[in-house]
Amino acid sequence: MKKPTRVNHPPTVELPPGNHPLVAPIYQSVKFEFASAAETEEHLRGERPGFYYSRASNPTNRQLEQLLAELQERDDCLVTASGLGAIAQTLLALTRAGDHILCFIESYSPSRRLIRQLLARFGVAYTLLSILDLAGVERALAARPTRLLFFESPTNPVTRIADIEALTRLAHAAGALSVLDNTFAGFHQHGRFAVDVFVHSLTKYASGAGDVMGGAVIARAELIRAMRADFGVLGGTLDPHAAFLILRGMKTYFIRYHAQCASAARIAEWLNGQPAVARVHYPGLPSHPQHALAARQMQDYGTILSFDLRGEAAAVRRFADALELFALTASLGSTESLVVTPPLLGHRDLDAEQLRISGITAGTIRLSIGLEDTDELIADLARALLAAAS
Ligand SMILES: Cc1ncc(COP(=O)(O)O)c(C=O)c1O
Repeated sequence: MKKPTRVNHPPTVELPPGNHPLVAPIYQSVKFEFASAAETEEHLRGERPGFYYSRASNPTNRQLEQLLAELQERDDCLVTASGLGAIAQTLLALTRAGDHILCFIESYSPSRRLIRQLLARFGVAYTLLSILDLAGVERALAARPTRLLFFESPTNPVTRIADIEALTRLAHAAGALSVLDNTFAGFHQHGRFAVDVFVHSLTKYASGAGDVMGGAVIARAELIRAMRADFGVLGGTLDPHAAFLILRGMKTYFIRYHAQCASAARIAEWLNGQPAVARVHYPGLPSHPQHALAARQMQDYGTILSFDLRGEAAAVRRFADALELFALTASLGSTESLVVTPPLLGHRDLDAEQLRISGITAGTIRLSIGLEDTDELIADLARALLAAAS
């Protein structure tokens, strides 16, 4: 080969049989070739395994998909470029004009906007309820055919617990699908419930390091099969390098999650005893109104907590500005601790009554607990509470 040709067809290095890397390679290739046109056609007809174009499937992404499906106790998974991408593609793939969705006031606000603004433009109707209003869910399901329920547990930011057993039972009795954004609870929880579709943001606990975005949809084979073609044309594929980083993050997922939960539990207890704090929202606290349900439903109570600070908006700002170890920014579940103040919680689409129901007050502050030393985090919070009071 002449050199300009050779640089485009470099030597291939095959591993000898029995020799394999402990970390799978990143298949940073958009295209995969078969030995012949006939084999390529067989693959495209679904009669030959393999890979062809990475928007449809890629071995590194596939490894991540299989791992997440197994952890979440379902058959299959599709990974996407972000958590919201996973939610958007799932809802687009599962609905059509004329369908009706049940969604909830206590949820991640961009998901709510996706349903209330974007899907509404395509003729998908919705009913917005409180996650605590099981009677309302029953009434709404009886009132009209419903395609799916879309919910979270624990909810963002006041950590309400959805009664998953009751919600999935009501959904199935009405012929509706249940779709659970399980980002807060993680891949190792809620698998035993009759949830049809799990969605996750991989940007959070999966990667842990806060350096990569991704999303996942996990469900039984037939549902993933039904959604796969739509995902292919929606095109929000995860990049294989991001999949590799997330796979690497997953190796420490359990130790990170457990350590961060233990720290969150101690911090929640400490905050509960502070006079400047009106209420702490953490499902692991016996004072949480749904602690018994959380204890039945969850193995771990999560690494997110929120609390209502007494005082004016200015006190909340003084508190956030005084924190040194908590970064004032979006996201959660990473190794560094984060704080979010009420104006950053993104609930502007809620009217006054919905806001009252949401449990978010002018003093509601969300903390995501990282892997720093817990005593130092508590000292930082103590300093910030003093600053808030001054
Ligand atoms: C519960 C929940 N779902 C979904 C998302 C969206 O994930 P991403 O930022 O990866 O799009 C977030 C992000 O904060 C979230 O908190």
